[in-house]
Amino acid sequence: MGGAVLPLRRYRRGGPVDRALSIAELRAMALHRLPAIAAEYLEGGAEEEVSLQANRAAFDRLRFRPRLAEGAQGGQGFPYVIAPTGLNGLYWRGADMALARAAAAAGVPFTQSTVSNVRLEEIAAVPGIDHWFQLYLFSQMAMVEQLLARAAGAGVRTLVVTVDANTFGNREWNTRLYAAEARPSFAARLDVLRHPRWLAQVYRHGLPGFPNIAEWLGEGAGDLLQASQWLRCNIAPTVRWEELAQVRRLWSGRMLVKGIGHVADARRAMALGADGVVLGNHGGRQLDGAVSGMDLLAETREALGEKAMVLVEGGIRRGTDLLKAQRLGADAAMGGRATLYGVAVAGEAGAARALAILRQEYERSQILLGDGDVV
Ligand SMILES: Cc1cc2nc3c(=O)[nH]c(=O)nc-3n(C[C@H](O)[C@H](O)[C@H](O)COP(=O)(O)O)c2cc1C
Repeated sequence: MGGAVLPLRRYRRGGPVDRALSIAELRAMALHRLPAIAAEYLEGGAEEEVSLQANRAAFDRLRFRPRLAEGAQGGQGFPYVIAPTGLNGLYWRGADMALARAAAAAGVPFTQSTVSNVRLEEIAAVPGIDHWFQLYLFSQMAMVEQLLARAAGAGVRTLVVTVDANTFGNREWNTRLYAAEARPSFAARLDVLRHPRWLAQVYRHGLPGFPNIAEWLGEGAGDLLQASQWLRCNIAPTVRWEELAQVRRLWSGRMLVKGIGHVADARRAMALGADGVVLGNHGGRQLDGAVSGMDLLAETREALGEKAMVLVEGGIRRGTDLLKAQRLGADAAMGGRATLYGVAVAGEAGAARALAILRQEYERSQILLGDGDVV
C-alpha cells in the first residue's frame, strides 16, 4: 500500500473523484470528507477488529500462478454485487439511489438493506436495475411477510437473508464517539463542525430515517435514537432454521443466505431450499474472530457442487481480489465499503468510479493470469 517511504508517495485527499486510481485512494478521500461519526460507522469492525483484518489477510495470503492462455481471455463478466449496507444516507444525501443508479449503469446487482434510507419502490424504479433485497429476520413474522410482499411487488427477484447480525456487533470505537446512545460526545460534535461540506450536504437535511420499516417504528420513525432502540428489541435475537424455512416458503424467487460461517451451515441452508449462500463475517462488524468467507470458499464450493450459488463477502478492495474469489469457486463477490467510499466522496459519480476501478483491475489481472490458478 502507498506508505510514505518515497517522497510524494501519498494519496489524494480531494479533487475530482475520477482522479482516484484505487479503492485505497477513494478511501483516503472519503475519510477526509466525513466527520468521525460517519467515518467510524463506515469503516470500523467489532472489538479487536481481528475479523476485519483477517478479511484482507485472506486475500493477501493467496498467490497467482500465471500461465499462458490457450484461447482468448476475458469476457467472463464482472463478478461483483453491491452488498447491503444500512444507513447509507449518513455519507451522502440519497446515497442508496446513487449506489443503485451506478450499479444499474455498470450492470451489477444492487442489494438494498432492510435498514436502507430509501423506499424499496424508489430503488425498484431505477431503469435497468438488478434489484436485490436484504432481509433481517424480525421477531414479528407479520413484518417479514409484509416486507417480502412489498419486495416481490416491486419486482425484486433475489432475496438475501442475513443471519449473522441478530444482535448488534460490539464496535467500541463507534460507541466511544457517543456520550449516550445516538448523542455524539462533545469532541465528536466539534469534529462535525470541522466538516462543513458534509454538514451542508447531509446533516442540514436531518439524519436519514428507515422508510421501509417506518410504519412499524411508529412515532419513532424519524428519530435515529428511537429507531435504533426499536431495532435492538425487534430483530429476532437468535435466527432459527425454522424461521429460514418459513421465509423460503413465503418467497418464490431466488433466496441466498448471508453470513454463513461454517460449511455445515452452507449445506443446511441448501437443504432447506436456499439457492445459495454468501460466505463471510459481515465485513468484520459482528463476531470478532469469526473466520473469513475466503477461508471457507474452496471447501464450500466442493461441498455444495456446481449448481449452488456461492458468494463471498469481506475485504474486496482490488480487482485481483475478485479474481482470487472467482478462481477459488465463487460465482461473485459482494462488496460493501468499496462503493461506500466512492459515494461518500461524490455520490453516484463516486460509486461509478469505484465500480470502474474494480472492473478495470479485474479485467487487466484476468489477462495477466491467463490460464493460471490461485494457491
Ligand atoms: C457501514 C456498513 C453497514 C452494513 N449494513 C448491513 C446491513 O444492513 N445488512 C447486511 O446484511 N449487511 C450489512 N453490512 C455488511 C455488508 O453487507 C458486507 O457484508 C460487508 O460490508 C463486506 O465487507 P467489505 O465492506 O469489506 O466489502 C454492512 C457493512 C457496512 C460496512
